[in-house]
Amino acid sequence: MEAFIALSLYRGKLVRLAPFRPDTDCEALSRWSHDVAFGAVWFGQRFEPKSTQQVQTWHAERSKGPMAPLFSIRALEDDRIIGIGEFYWWSQVHGTARLRIAIASNERGHGYGTDCMGLLLRLADEEYNLVTVVAASCSADDRINKWLQVHEFELHESRREAIWRDGTRHDFQLWSRMKVPTTALSPNPSVAPVARLRPDRPLLRGELTHLCAINADTDSSYFARWNEDSEFYRLFDDEPAQLFTHAYFKEWIANQTANEISFLIRAIDHDKPIGMAGLHLIAGPHRDAFISIGIGEREYWSRGYGSDALGELLRYSFCQLDLHRVSLGVFEYNTRAQHVYKKFGFVVEGRRPNISRRGGKRWGSITMGLLQSEWRALNGY
Ligand SMILES: CC(C)(COP(=O)(O)OP(=O)(O)OC[C@H]1O[C@@H](n2cnc3c(N)ncnc32)[C@H](O)[C@@H]1OP(=O)(O)O)[C@@H](O)C(=O)NCCC(=O)NCCS
Repeated sequence: MEAFIALSLYRGKLVRLAPFRPDTDCEALSRWSHDVAFGAVWFGQRFEPKSTQQVQTWHAERSKGPMAPLFSIRALEDDRIIGIGEFYWWSQVHGTARLRIAIASNERGHGYGTDCMGLLLRLADEEYNLVTVVAASCSADDRINKWLQVHEFELHESRREAIWRDGTRHDFQLWSRMKVPTTALSPNPSVAPVARLRPDRPLLRGELTHLCAINADTDSSYFARWNEDSEFYRLFDDEPAQLFTHAYFKEWIANQTANEISFLIRAIDHDKPIGMAGLHLIAGPHRDAFISIGIGEREYWSRGYGSDALGELLRYSFCQLDLHRVSLGVFEYNTRAQHVYKKFGFVVEGRRPNISRRGGKRWGSITMGLLQSEWRALNGY
């Protein structure tokens, strides 16, 4: 048999990767989730201990999504569970995924994490053919950051002051490990001055647009129609272009969570729906949200409507929700959107070369962020 076929992908020197077994492993995960060092890494930015039943619900929800491997990490010496590792946000189309590993606090310092990282990266390279593996960390975690560098991860993004931990703000960092050479990208252009916004204007109402609630029954047909424009979709979203039905959008609108606020953008002149804008992941102590904006009616592109709506969304984010910062991602080929974001003072905080595959080429994406203090200074608030 060829040597590479005989290779054991799941067995290292100290640990093995085992299938995650909800009947027993959820209990261990619940126990570890009470430890802040573990829980904050595994269950996202908000530290919140989970019961076994809550972990089972998380696992059941995760299993409904697209395939993304989840492993329990077991020590070879006695097969006890010592941690958990997974790939998530796996895009088969672009050949990218995020990776995270969490080892129980009392099992750290014995080399288990390093052995497990070696196995997961070998799976990424030799089995899943991932071009880019991305890992997240907090700038305060020196040990983890050094560990990622040892495994050939390079820092590509540092979202300033995005994490609130123990009374201090830290940067949220993203690291990539790539199998293809990176493309040189143009330097960070300077920020242009932004038009001053009138503080006395009602919230969510600009000069050209107003941001309104979305009605699942009457507005889902607009979303379905805009989605049929593949150029719009490729500028707006990193999922492969696909056709969603009216019914899909109806359900999507009706099922918005407390962590999201979405708006329909209406042009004031004809009261016509022309696009959508939203804030995602707004809850939690970090007060950081991702924003998205898309003008679906293409005859309204480059006529000032997008800038007007974005200005209102930012005013709402900072003056009403009191967010500390907002973040966004934009494709390197979307130069119009980048121009608009820079106009509002967004700073380039990260560049991910080769993250997506479109039209036979690989493209990078750019992450940008804007702090409330920067927005206030630019707008005189
Ligand atoms: C990005 C988008 C929201 C911007 O809204 P818009 O109404 O088209 O933009 P505006 O008219 O307000 O502003 C466009 C600005 O970009 C400039 N611009 C236009 N085309 C450009 C291009 N190809 N490259 C660089 N700048 C460009 C315009 O000159 C104008 O600059 P100015 O405000 O300094 O005069 C809108 O075009 C859109 O929805 N596009 C498709 C979806 C999308 O890209 N969403 C963003 C995903 S990150």
